[in-house]
Amino acid sequence: LTTDNCLMSKRIAQLVAELNEHNYRYAVLNAPVISDRAYDDLMRELIDLEARHPDLIQPDSPTQRVTSDLTQQFPTVQHDVPMLSLDNTYSEDELRNFEARVRRELPDEALQYVAELKIDGVALSLIYENGLLLRGVTRGNGVQGEDITPNAKTIRAIPLRLKERVRFCEIRGEVYLDHNTFEAMNAQREENGANPFANPRNAAAGSLKLQDARLVAERRLSFFAYAFRAPDQPAPHAENLTRMEALGLPVNPHHKLCDNVDEILAFARKWQEERPDLSYDIDGIVIKVNDLVQQNKLGATAKNPRWAISYKYSAEQAETVLQNIALQVGRTGVITPVANLELVQLAGTTVKRATLHNAEEIQRKDIREGDAVILEKGGDVIPKVVRVVKAKRPKDAVPYVFPETCPVCESDLVKDESEVAIRCVNPQCAALIKGNIRHFASRTAMDIEGLGKALVEQLVDEGLVRDVGDLYSLTLEQLAGLDRMAEKSAQNVLAALEESKRQPFHRVLFALGIRHIGATVARTLADHFHCIDRLRETPPEKIEAVHEIGAAIAESIHTYLADEGNWAIVEKLRKAGVALASESPAEDAPKPLDGETVVVTGTLSRWGRQQVQDLIRALGGTPTSSVSKKTDLVIAGERAGSKRAKAEQLGIEILDEAAFVKLIGDNGA
Ligand code: IVH
Repeated sequence: LTTDNCLMSKRIAQLVAELNEHNYRYAVLNAPVISDRAYDDLMRELIDLEARHPDLIQPDSPTQRVTSDLTQQFPTVQHDVPMLSLDNTYSEDELRNFEARVRRELPDEALQYVAELKIDGVALSLIYENGLLLRGVTRGNGVQGEDITPNAKTIRAIPLRLKERVRFCEIRGEVYLDHNTFEAMNAQREENGANPFANPRNAAAGSLKLQDARLVAERRLSFFAYAFRAPDQPAPHAENLTRMEALGLPVNPHHKLCDNVDEILAFARKWQEERPDLSYDIDGIVIKVNDLVQQNKLGATAKNPRWAISYKYSAEQAETVLQNIALQVGRTGVITPVANLELVQLAGTTVKRATLHNAEEIQRKDIREGDAVILEKGGDVIPKVVRVVKAKRPKDAVPYVFPETCPVCESDLVKDESEVAIRCVNPQCAALIKGNIRHFASRTAMDIEGLGKALVEQLVDEGLVRDVGDLYSLTLEQLAGLDRMAEKSAQNVLAALEESKRQPFHRVLFALGIRHIGATVARTLADHFHCIDRLRETPPEKIEAVHEIGAAIAESIHTYLADEGNWAIVEKLRKAGVALASESPAEDAPKPLDGETVVVTGTLSRWGRQQVQDLIRALGGTPTSSVSKKTDLVIAGERAGSKRAKAEQLGIEILDEAAFVKLIGDNGA
């Protein structure tokens, strides 16, 4: 080691320790002592030093929280100890039964319980060796879970290094999203045309499984540790909670050692009342026998431990006033009545609207404008009206009459006898057009970033776009002339539109928003018919003959493509260069990657993650995520890091993007 290197290594170690401590104060203690700016400055210095000395990167460096590579595949791993779930109780009696059962099993023993909050998130197991985070594994089926270590590392509340060099321990806990983060994330998603998550738990679960750790990091997940296992002397659970805190783990502060069931019930009532004030969702409390020896004696059934149980709360409710009923027109023309409410807090979020589902529902519950109503959060983002508080009904309230014309285009509404839905069937209705464009641009369809709700509204209202085909003739001047549109954002939208022309045919088919054609059906149709022209010429009976395609789908696609107006849209897309046929490599096409195991690392300029993997498959290869002796080829893009180094070490062939393009010739164009 040169002196220079030695100094460098010291500075790096110092920065790592300092940043980790600040991170702990910020994410675990919620008490930062430096500004974000000062933190970023330190971080930048570290990134810079590490870039110049990659050999000095420490495993617990905060830069290692997001070491993204293209796509991760999550290996399955077996849990040392199965991750069981808890048996639930819903009433005081059931809880007393649990306590009586424990006493029967352990007569003459002094019993204590720890009562904790039951965080409504996703379980995660963390393995630490010599104080360093080694692995993060999801619960999976309880016996085997998925190794999602890179994603776990992005969670700032999870220490990369414990405060003590414990030889081995397993921490279990709950990954969750707090209310503020969740609301901000959903607002952002709606703006981007993505579907909002129904609740923080779904959002956390979805985020943990993302394949790009950079995206996971943006989700700002949190963590509470609730179980500790180490090979040394088993300590009572309450002491383990303290021990975990001492190790630098975030432990939820609201737990209580209880001597009897009445104390447990008092704890349950207290937190049921204070639940609305918490900044995260809980769905009940968890009660655990404190003594680990007693826990072992009690044992477990196949699914649940006998030493712990949950006491579940029912869904939170709130009362407010329904000011009026508005009608929303969906992409398919379905009219959904929505209640506009006096603002009210419910389950940690501010609620201003509730769904009323349909006309029958309003009638059945006799919901009237001006009524006091009870709201509840179900499994959905938007709460529902459970019932009307009839005693508080204003004298002048009248039964709601469902309008007969579309609130947007005023054409007559239609009710299909076969369904409850009432629809607007005017294809020129601005609401349908806007909905179609938003669907077209959405992430799972053409994935046009920046073409969010507000922009679509303007484009249609200003008459710049009448259907999705018009999107591709938008100009920079037109876009930049709109409200809240800087030239830079306008350029970004145009670039995203251009990029979307590379979407494969099946995505385009899905993006058209044809009734009954979901993403999977679109793929099946594209695989079978290869191009839109063939699909148009095929009579519905023949379409229906395809495996997994039913009569309704066949009829729907046939009717759509036969319509001259729709076909004009397709022609506009064709002119713009949007893919209307699959790139089906001919049977005898050369397969330059035949039988090869290929790893892609770093960023490529021509393909996104998913695209390059599809391409590798199409060329006969198998894409995998980690470099090993079995790897035949590594494609290294910009900023390729450790995988490239490993491939060099193993003497595996490495190609840069240009060389890869040359290898595959015309096949990847
Ligand atoms: S202890 C043997 N404590 O609730 C079960 N679980 O089915 C050990 N949960 O999947 C779980 N908060 O993810 C425990 N304070 C807490 C918890 C908690 C939330 C979750 C956990 C588990 C589910 C119960």
